[in-house]
Amino acid sequence: MVSNVVVAVKDDIRCLKGVKASFKDPQGTLDSWVFNTSSLEGYVCVFSGVECWNTRENRVYGLQLPSSKLSGQVPNSLQYCGSLQILDLSGNNISGTIPSQICTWLPYLVNLDLSGNQLSGSIPAELVECKYLNRLILSNNRLSGQIPSQFSSLVRLRDFAVADNHFSGQIPSFMSNFSAAGFEGNDGLCGKPLAACGYGL
Ligand SMILES: *[C@@H]1O[C@H](CO)[C@@H](O)[C@H](O)[C@H]1NC(C)=O
Ligand SMILES: *[C@@H]1O[C@H](CO)[C@@H](O)[C@H](O)[C@H]1NC(C)=O
Repeated sequence: MVSNVVVAVKDDIRCLKGVKASFKDPQGTLDSWVFNTSSLEGYVCVFSGVECWNTRENRVYGLQLPSSKLSGQVPNSLQYCGSLQILDLSGNNISGTIPSQICTWLPYLVNLDLSGNQLSGSIPAELVECKYLNRLILSNNRLSGQIPSQFSSLVRLRDFAVADNHFSGQIPSFMSNFSAAGFEGNDGLCGKPLAACGYGL
């Protein structure tokens, strides 16, 4: 829990303003995000996709904007949403890379779902800094490279999926009893729970 962390609530508002500004939003999903400085505390908690720790304060716990046709990159302004535990931007049109600082910005993330976008590049090994991570879903993007073996230190990780990307190399052995479906659809991944790596791989 984050009760020992001092978080400036105005940062969460800065975060959401930045998120809204950075996405192209043809469907108007973020139209309800109207920043009104004369409103009472907690007004961002009624924004679509926003969940707060407590509806009386603007401290954001979850940001869930799946399948909303959002384009752009993973917003830098997320660094001001430091209390976030759930980030679900799945099924959009988000491109660019997964920021290597994302877990410096959001150290309390428990659930990160960026599946079904246009993300490219590799998975930053720095995701190990999200030490409470339970669920990491990156399926259906254009990600490549290897699955970082450092993820073995993510002791709470239960639900992991990177299916339908361009990953290669050996699946780290601590993932051998994870569901195979989470690894399928990559040309070069091998080892349990998929087939053994062939000679020379
Ligand atoms: C801003 O909030 C105040 C106080 O809640 C309200 O009276 C006013 O109508 C709001 N303005 C807009 C543009 O929503
Ligand atoms: C997806 O994003 C790309 C690049 O930002 C843009 O060119 C394209 O029009 C977007 N596609 C849709 C369906 O929004």
